[in-house]
Amino acid sequence: MSFTIAIDGPAAAGKGTIGRALAERFGLAHLDTGLLYRATARLVLDTGVTPVEAARALTSDALDRDDLRTAEVGQEASKVAAIPEVREALLNFQRAFAQRAGGAVLDGRDIGTVICPDAEVKLFVTASDVVRAQRRHAELAATGSTLGLDEVLQEIKARDARDSARANAPLVPAEDSIQLDTSELTILQAIENAAEITYARMSESGFQADLDSN
Ligand code: DC
Repeated sequence: MSFTIAIDGPAAAGKGTIGRALAERFGLAHLDTGLLYRATARLVLDTGVTPVEAARALTSDALDRDDLRTAEVGQEASKVAAIPEVREALLNFQRAFAQRAGGAVLDGRDIGTVICPDAEVKLFVTASDVVRAQRRHAELAATGSTLGLDEVLQEIKARDARDSARANAPLVPAEDSIQLDTSELTILQAIENAAEITYARMSESGFQADLDSN
């Protein structure tokens, strides 16, 4: 039986942290779909192939690279993500991942609206611009980045504006999503909120989580 958790929201709102924690707690597979767009962008930057060629050529090795989380790759990912043929090339992989037996968590921008409109749980995770910039700044600094807080703030604002304004699969909350504002929450509180929502939906749907896998 499949059970899908769709987590969407703007950059650095906490989607990935919450997604990973839910996957671990409930024994589900997790896919950070931003990595698909980042890996596509990385290939474009490195080899000069077109974004569509890069998206069609993606392999699992391309997702494992440790140089996908830079601000430069984030900006390029947001640009290639606005191309409908790129999104089309990545669609089937995401849908198949979501349908796997045993359940899956996917986080991104269009999971609840386009990739998995029938997901059992849909969360739209947000936080204020400043809080998101502080979190991303700390993450980037830990990897040796020298970008200042203000540059990081401008970077995520530019990305959110582009991701929200594009015609194809824009960043918008699904009508039936539950909004979770993490600005004032600790990581643990945000995870607990999301886990409670998930647990309630699992009970309603009769899905048996593989709790022994933890
Ligand atoms: O989640 P992230 O910040 O790593 O994503 C990088 C970019 O990829 C983001 O700015 C927009 C794009 N993206 C998308 O368009 N759709 C998704 N489902 C995930 C990411």
